[in-house]
Amino acid sequence: MEARIFTVDKMQMKMEVVEELNRKGYIEEEIDPTLDLFEEIEKLKKQKNAVILAHYYQEPDIQDIADYIGDSLGLSQEAAKTDADVIVFAGVHFMAETAKILSPQKTVLLPDLKAGCSLADSCPPHLFKKFKEKYPDHVVITYVNCTAELKALSDIVCTSTNAVQIVESLPKDQGIIFGPDRNLGAWVAKKTGRDLVLWNGACMVHEIFSREKITKLKERHPNAKFIAHPECEESVLAMADYIGSTTGLLKYSINSDAQEFIVATESGIIHQMEKANPTKTFIPAPPSNSCACNDCPYMKRNTLEKLYLCLKNGLPEVDVPADIIVAARKPIERMLEISASLGL
Ligand code: 13P
Ligand code: SF4
Repeated sequence: MEARIFTVDKMQMKMEVVEELNRKGYIEEEIDPTLDLFEEIEKLKKQKNAVILAHYYQEPDIQDIADYIGDSLGLSQEAAKTDADVIVFAGVHFMAETAKILSPQKTVLLPDLKAGCSLADSCPPHLFKKFKEKYPDHVVITYVNCTAELKALSDIVCTSTNAVQIVESLPKDQGIIFGPDRNLGAWVAKKTGRDLVLWNGACMVHEIFSREKITKLKERHPNAKFIAHPECEESVLAMADYIGSTTGLLKYSINSDAQEFIVATESGIIHQMEKANPTKTFIPAPPSNSCACNDCPYMKRNTLEKLYLCLKNGLPEVDVPADIIVAARKPIERMLEISASLGL
């Protein structure tokens, strides 16, 4: 009898947890303000054999406690090879999904389930499926910033680090659909001279940089290099001294002799740029809206507190249906193979 009551209570508690996760994206719990979260996270990591993978767009505290910080390609390579039992993905939902697809036997945690992506949202899989049907002979290359379902509809996945090389790995006369980012697609088309069929999606952070405000900023800082992520619009990219993925931008800031940089991507990367170049100055490129920052509202949903709670409670966990794992794994593995063969 007692056992039955306990089971019912436990089930009710589980339902409440599921409801809270659906509503808020994370389990809210009071944290003792005297706790040193850095120490607690380190302890939990050891206890649970967990690894923390963080994208460059995460807040500085998260970047500082991560075992690996990187761009989308580096993060998928790490997720594929880690021997940890638990992967805490400090990034957005599609990144955690990619980790789960590559390491389905592992537990993948995301500090906040509502850390989504406007670019992934701009390409609903049922509409993309119809779009794809119009070009039956085309190979489908999808940017990793998309849902697992969309990856399952693709032939090869790419990131901004390898998109040019992935397109070039196909024969010149091969028709290619590229999605979901139209700006990255247009840049790749220009760099490769290929005629890509583009899906009309974009990232809310990268599409709002203001050409006018950047022009004025460049006038005030004539020696600054203007560096931009290829998710930016073509008119902004046309002004850039260098275009590249987050890792590409970071490397450029290290290798360049310039002392000032105007940076057109999410502002989180500036933390690593400043750490690597303590004497150089990094200025976030201004967006056209009234908000002065380039923060991605999804990336910045993760906080050190939520990271601590998710490790402690083993929730929220990201799962992907088994059939989608099977179908989405092939195009991601193809990307990893091509990248490895090119030393990327
Ligand atoms: P990379 O770090 O691969 O350049 O991707 C940037 C991005 O938009 C991630 O959301
Ligand atoms: Fe998505 Fe843009 Fe945020 Fe990257 S910066 S996670 S592409 S919304």
